[in-house]
Amino acid sequence: MFRTTPDPDVLPCNVARCSIAVDLHDEAGDLALAFPGVALPESLRGAVRKRRLEYLAGRWCAREALRVGHAHLAEHPLPPGADRAPAWPGVVVGSITHTQGFVSAAVASAAEFRGVGIDSERVFTAEAALRLAGRFARPGELAALGRGGAYDEGTLAALVFSAKESVYKCLYPIVGGYFGFQAAEVVALSIGGALRVRLVEGLPGGFRAGDEFAGRAAVTATHVHTAITLRA
Ligand SMILES: CC(C)(COP(=O)(O)OP(=O)(O)OC[C@H]1O[C@@H](n2cnc3c(N)ncnc32)[C@H](O)[C@@H]1OP(=O)(O)O)[C@@H](O)C(=O)NCCC(=O)NCCS
Repeated sequence: MFRTTPDPDVLPCNVARCSIAVDLHDEAGDLALAFPGVALPESLRGAVRKRRLEYLAGRWCAREALRVGHAHLAEHPLPPGADRAPAWPGVVVGSITHTQGFVSAAVASAAEFRGVGIDSERVFTAEAALRLAGRFARPGELAALGRGGAYDEGTLAALVFSAKESVYKCLYPIVGGYFGFQAAEVVALSIGGALRVRLVEGLPGGFRAGDEFAGRAAVTATHVHTAITLRA
């Protein structure tokens, strides 16, 4: 049903990661056999197959990533919180992403990192980029980043969307609540993959407008991958 695949090169080497290639629309095969020992929470028992598959695949990757530096925690069930954020054991921070074709989890020591956020998206079509930009980009944000011409519009839009999802997943456990796409803007995105995101407004947890977060991005023919890390 799936195979492990190389991790995108977007995280520091002291962050463990496991990535798999998986067709989330696969209708064949027994999910319990494909992801043995990974528990489905009660809340997802009646969910459609794709939702169960992506959840199980994400938790399977998390277990494999935990094995790298925190093997004693690998069987931790990682239940979802009321807000859907995975309940990581206190000594680690982590993040999960799933999109058609690709599922991944990253785990780091809480002694080294306050937060880690990863996100992967399918490259947007030019039409989707145009249609959706107003929902996730600030006025002028995409135009400013596109000036160098390094990425086509669909790739650029997916990268900006993904970078903000990574920021959200990284900061959420500290902020403790929702903050929207207008709260931050991507201010740098180099062809080499260096990424900087700046807060436009202050957030609970001691974050101020102007604070910047560094990360990395990687692009393939089908997907974009981003990661944001916050050192302890
Ligand atoms: C929560 C959210 C980021 C997840 O996005 P998505 O498109 O479903 O992304 P992915 O599939 O890559 O990731 C889903 C995983 O993220 C994790 N996740 C969900 N909510 C989370 C949260 N609040 N904090 C951290 N991680 C979270 C979960 O592990 C989830 O998978 P699971 O439900 O199977 O466990 C998105 O739905 C959302 O609410 N975004 C709006 C807020 C935002 O992005 N603001 C931008 C601020 S600059």
